[in-house]
Amino acid sequence: MKRVEIIKLLEAGEVGATVCVKGWVRTKRGSKNVAFIALNDGTCLNSIQVVADVDQFAEDDLRRITTGASISVSGELAASKGAGQKVEIVAEQLEILGEAPADEYPLQPKKHSMEFLRDIAHLRFRTNTFSAVFRIRHALSFSVHEFFNKNGFYHIHTPIITGSDAEGAGEMFKVTNFDLNNIPRNEEGAIDFRQDFFESETNLTVSGQLEAELAALALSKVYTFGPTFRAENSNTSRHLAEFWMIEPEVAFADLAENMDLAQDFLRYTINYVLENCKEDLNFLNRRFEEIESKKPKNERSDSGLIEKLEYVLRDDFKRITYSEAIDILRNCKPNKKKKFNYIIEGWGADLQSEHERYLVEKHFKSPVIIYDYPADIKAFYMRQNDDNQTVAAMDVLFPGIGEIIGGSQREERLDVLKKKMADFNIPEDEMQWYLDTRRFGTVPHSGFGLGFERLMLFVTGMTNIRDVIAFPRTPGNAKF
Ligand code: 4AD
Ligand code: MG
Repeated sequence: MKRVEIIKLLEAGEVGATVCVKGWVRTKRGSKNVAFIALNDGTCLNSIQVVADVDQFAEDDLRRITTGASISVSGELAASKGAGQKVEIVAEQLEILGEAPADEYPLQPKKHSMEFLRDIAHLRFRTNTFSAVFRIRHALSFSVHEFFNKNGFYHIHTPIITGSDAEGAGEMFKVTNFDLNNIPRNEEGAIDFRQDFFESETNLTVSGQLEAELAALALSKVYTFGPTFRAENSNTSRHLAEFWMIEPEVAFADLAENMDLAQDFLRYTINYVLENCKEDLNFLNRRFEEIESKKPKNERSDSGLIEKLEYVLRDDFKRITYSEAIDILRNCKPNKKKKFNYIIEGWGADLQSEHERYLVEKHFKSPVIIYDYPADIKAFYMRQNDDNQTVAAMDVLFPGIGEIIGGSQREERLDVLKKKMADFNIPEDEMQWYLDTRRFGTVPHSGFGLGFERLMLFVTGMTNIRDVIAFPRTPGNAKF
């Protein structure tokens, strides 16, 4: 008999129909006469209840049906007496596809810590929490493509291996084919990259932006959605060494239009998940509330997860300049009382996540876009403002997250860009291709980068970025 997915049965299964389902056992309980098996195939959060009359099956077969075992069940759908489910299956045939001996299988029907589940990331997909997270991750990713497609953007696949460091932070993983025990050197004793695979020094990309700009200056509106890599030694709950970034780039758009796009885009994707992932979100909402309720009162979130998402859809994000942000921060209580780890002394300071979260969570109680940052603390490609001190940069800050988007209007004036590159010690000859777009038919243009996992954190209410990507890469860990 052909297998039916559990999501279809729970949505539209008709009492009396004979069906076959396959999945993994979540729990088995019962009495002397009947066994109740909760069977889940990951197509949705809920499991279907299988009722097996103990007399009809070999005792040994029933014994081998334990949490984690995979089975195939055929039988008739009956109206369920249990709460929260319309139908259950009365088993006529049971086949064990794969056992999961209880004394060896690490996932048991009890609460496991997130740390423990990270160690067994190959099995954590089989928990309610992680299956919900990864179904939402799919939906969120789909909504990204849908948003851009509906708005006339073209998806560009930018390279993963590159010779450039877009952000200029030098946090790159090297890509080489050299025998590491015998690296060729030139006459001066330096590494001779001419003998390497690409005949030049290469690394994993930190951003697809520079290449996206080239495409935008021909196709008008493009976006990238790919893996990016940063060898920064940040062991925080918001940093990964490998993460996925979405980078739209728009010709003829200025910074204000860039901010509008960021707000529309974030809202579209969040709304998509609210509308299309109700069951999983409700589950994560309950989880969120349970975790919050165990915190001390003054640390508790004042709204539930779903409320937080709906809230972002309501009002425009607050927009303030960097200078305004510094004024607020310099005079705020935690700064005056030296509660911040980094005290804000004055204009020019780089904002840390504690400052960003203060502005969003305490001062404005709303997502905030900060723009016009000091040129010194931002990347070389950002457009110089007329004050010659600031650049047309923007960061979007979210509650509980801090920076979720970073972007800017790009420097489109060849002479200004060249000077900027000289100031940043970026050799012109390596960036000829980039400068060419300013040499030939240059136009004002803007774009930004969204860290996909940071948005996932916000949408799922998970607290550690390692728990919203299947196999996290962080300092000291590249397992799986
Ligand atoms: O602010 P960033 O470094 O900006 C860029 O890379 C630009 N080239 C983007 C552009 O204008 N096209 O990174 C963009 C976003 C951050 O706001 C953050 O959400 C995320 O990427 N991000 C990280 N996410 C997880 N782990 C890390 N180590 C991250 N570093 C940045
Ligand atoms: Mg940034």
